[in-house]
Amino acid sequence: MIPLVDPRAEYESLKSELDKVILGVAGSGQYVLGANVEAFEKEFAAYIGVEHAIGTGSGTDALRIALLSLGVKTGDEVITSPFSFVATADSIAQIGAIPVFVDIDPETFNIDAHKIEHKISSKTKALLPVHLFGQPCEMDMIGDLADEYGLKVLEDCAQAAGAGFGAKKTGSIGHAGAFSFFPTKNLGCMGDGGMITTNDDETANMARMLRVHGAASKYDHEMLGYNSRLDEVQAAVLRVKLKMLDGWINLRIQAAKLYDEHITAEHVTKPAVDNGSKHAFNIYTITTGKRDRLAAHLKKNDISSSVNYPTPLHLQKAFSYLGYEKNSLREAEQASSEVLSLPMHPHLSTQQVQTVADCVNSFDPYNG
Ligand SMILES: Cc1ncc(COP(=O)(O)O)c(C=O)c1O
Repeated sequence: MIPLVDPRAEYESLKSELDKVILGVAGSGQYVLGANVEAFEKEFAAYIGVEHAIGTGSGTDALRIALLSLGVKTGDEVITSPFSFVATADSIAQIGAIPVFVDIDPETFNIDAHKIEHKISSKTKALLPVHLFGQPCEMDMIGDLADEYGLKVLEDCAQAAGAGFGAKKTGSIGHAGAFSFFPTKNLGCMGDGGMITTNDDETANMARMLRVHGAASKYDHEMLGYNSRLDEVQAAVLRVKLKMLDGWINLRIQAAKLYDEHITAEHVTKPAVDNGSKHAFNIYTITTGKRDRLAAHLKKNDISSSVNYPTPLHLQKAFSYLGYEKNSLREAEQASSEVLSLPMHPHLSTQQVQTVADCVNSFDPYNG
């Protein structure tokens, strides 16, 4: 089977170093918020190019805590994409704010920046663009809108560690960024983990308090907060893997180029990459009107694929209270019915890419 992702191959490729640091933590007796977390926060902040990085228990918590730290409150509206993993919108709803969905650009699958302005209301407090699949959003236009209307920008960078927009890395462009270190991400740990990045001291201080029960110092609780800390094992693993990140992204980009070159089937549209940005290819997604039959054909040939995402967020039952109807965000709905993600990870061989591409090409869209 050619797997969609392969976190185990990452471990195998770094086994001796990872084993050493994991055992080091085990023997240290310090398991939550210790020296590794502190060092990793500094190293990650330097890598992204921001003043502060604050580790959290997951990417979802990074989003929630970042929204609160940016001053988003109950009843505020946050504009985001309907075509994302559910955490993007449930983090907004869980802090009592209201997700407002804006349709996507069908070429990049990212929020269509041209459609944001007419959804801005007196209640809008923040914009939450998602750099989906590792491709940066149109941050210039989003930044201009935020300036004009006095809004905060939180980048959902869960899939975009190491992606770039102009000279900047994603996570350093808006007022804050939220990262996930879920094992299948570009920078993945061995469990759950997340990070908030920001240049703003106040936002960073607030996030540091919110991740430890709203405590300014031990047992001194300024506000209601969370238990959401990065643990030492994850930080130790992430410190080792951070050194590999740019090289691994280059391998992802190479695999994407090979797919682009070798997939020739006419019914397939390959991912569009905006030349001004660096797509980090956490996920390589094609579109085809024959999606489900192509997925079955790949499976029959021992190739994994996945649908990211089969139901757009505005049509999920969890968000039915928001009142969106079918056909209200047509591009997101269309994408949900046509997208198919192919195997993508840094340890994918040239031969495997070729095999997947051949299999896509051998599918007969009329009789397959
Ligand atoms: C776009 C996006 N946002 C947020 C998250 C949430 O991250 P986590 O799973 O670490 O909570 C994910 C993770 O899958 C994601 O893909």
